[in-house]
Amino acid sequence: MEKFVINGGKILSGKVKISGAKNSALKLIAASILADSKTTLKNVPKIEDVNIMIEVLRTLGARVNVDTENKSVEINPESIDSYEAPYELVRKMRASILVAGPLLSKFGKVKVAVPGGCNIGSRQIDLHLKGFEDMGVEYSIEHGYINCQVESNKTGVRLSGTMVNMDFPSRGATENIMMAACLARGQTVINNAAREPEIIDLACFLNSMGADIQGSGTDCIVINGVKSLKGTEYEVMPDSIEAGTFIVAAGLCGNKVEVENAKWKNLQVFYSKLKEIGVNISIIDENNIRVDEPQSTYNPTNISTLPYPGFPTDLQPIITVLLSTIPGVSIVTENVFENRFMYVDELNRMGANIKIDGHHAVIKGVEKLSGAPVRSFDLRAGAAIVLAGLVAEGSTEVSDIYHIKRGYEDFEEKLKSLGADIKKVS
Ligand code: EPU
Repeated sequence: MEKFVINGGKILSGKVKISGAKNSALKLIAASILADSKTTLKNVPKIEDVNIMIEVLRTLGARVNVDTENKSVEINPESIDSYEAPYELVRKMRASILVAGPLLSKFGKVKVAVPGGCNIGSRQIDLHLKGFEDMGVEYSIEHGYINCQVESNKTGVRLSGTMVNMDFPSRGATENIMMAACLARGQTVINNAAREPEIIDLACFLNSMGADIQGSGTDCIVINGVKSLKGTEYEVMPDSIEAGTFIVAAGLCGNKVEVENAKWKNLQVFYSKLKEIGVNISIIDENNIRVDEPQSTYNPTNISTLPYPGFPTDLQPIITVLLSTIPGVSIVTENVFENRFMYVDELNRMGANIKIDGHHAVIKGVEKLSGAPVRSFDLRAGAAIVLAGLVAEGSTEVSDIYHIKRGYEDFEEKLKSLGADIKKVS
C-alpha cells in the first residue's frame, strides 16, 4: 500500500500545466466504439480510470494502442465482438457503463453490470435506462446485470429517435443517451440535459466523426441520427477540476503560481467564489491564471454545489479545506451527491472544526491544521486531504492514495515541482 508523506508549511510557486480532462477522456474513449474505423485521441491523461476504460474496450474486442509518452490512444473498434461490460471492471469504475449507449446504438444490444453505490453516494442509473427505454430498448435486470436489447421492429436493430425528458440534468445519462442517439433512426431531443463543458467536448468529438448534434452546452440537445460514423483524431480538453485543485492549493499556501491550461471560463462560479474569499487570482489570458499571495485575510463564505454551471461538486472537498482555515463560519451545502462529506472526519483529525448537518457542512475556521495520519476516501476527497497536508503544521501521512491516482496525473510530481515537500512511500 502506498502513502503520501507531506511535510506542511512550504510555499508553492512556479508553473503547473493542467492535463487532459478525466471526465471527457473516459467518454471519448467509450464513444470511439461508434466509429467504423480507427480513432486517435490526444492529450489523454495518464490516470488509472483511463486504463480501466481502455481495459473495458479491450474486453469488448477493440484494438487499443497506447502511446504513453505522447499521451495518445489509438482505438480500432472494428474487431468488437462482445457486448458485455463485466462486473470486475464496472465495480472498479462506474463510468464503464458509458459503453452502453454506443454499443446499443451500433449493435442493438449490451449487457452491463449494475454499478452499485460508491463512497460519495448511491448513484442510480435509472435516468440512463429510462432514456434507453424511450428509444425502444427493452431491458431486464438479472443476477446483477442489466440486459438491454433494442425491440425488434421494422427498422432492424436501430434505436428510434424520440423526446427524452430528464428529471435531473444527469451528466452520465445525457452522455449515454447522446451517444445512443447518434446512430438511431430519426431525431432525438434531450430536454433538461446536463450542460458541462465535457458534454460539449463529447458532442464536438462525435460531430467530428460525422454525427449531427446541436445544442450541447444548453439544456436541450438535438441529435439527428446518421447511418454510420468514421474514426477521427481529437484532442481531449483540459481538466477544469484539476485546475481548480491547483488554484486552491496556491490559494492555501502559494505565491506566484501560474496554472497553465486552466480554461477559467469553464468554471466561472468557482472563480467568483475564490475572489469573494479573497484569493489573489489574475487572469493572464483565456487559458492561464496566476495566483499571488493574498492582499488581506481571507473571508468565510457559503457555497452550494449544483449541476453545471453551478459550483461543481467535484471541487466541494477541495474548497472545504480552504474554508476550514479561514476565521469565521462558512457553510457548504452538497446538493448533488448524498454522501460526499465522508472526508470531513479526517479533516477534523487534522484540527479542522467542521460539523455535518444533513447535506450541510458548518465550518468554523481554525488558525491552523496539524499533520496527522489520514485516509483518502475517494478521488477528490483524497486530493483535498493532500492540500490540507500542504498547509498543516508537521507531517501528514495520506493512505489509500490509489483513489487520487484514478484521476490526477502526476499529482505528487506536479506539487513537488511547485516546491511542496511530498513523497510517496510504500
Ligand atoms: N442520478 C440519478 N439517476 C441517474 C443518474 C444520476 O439519480 O440515472 C443522480 C446521482 O445519483 C447523483 C446525481 O444524479 O446524485 C448526479 O449524477 P450524474 O449522472 O450527473 O453524475 P455522473 O455522470 O455519475 C459525473 C462525474 C463525477 C461528477 C458528476 C457530477 C464522470 C465519470 N463522473 O458523474 O465526477 O461528480 O458527474 O458533476 O464524469 C469525479 O471526477 O471525482 C466525479 C465523481
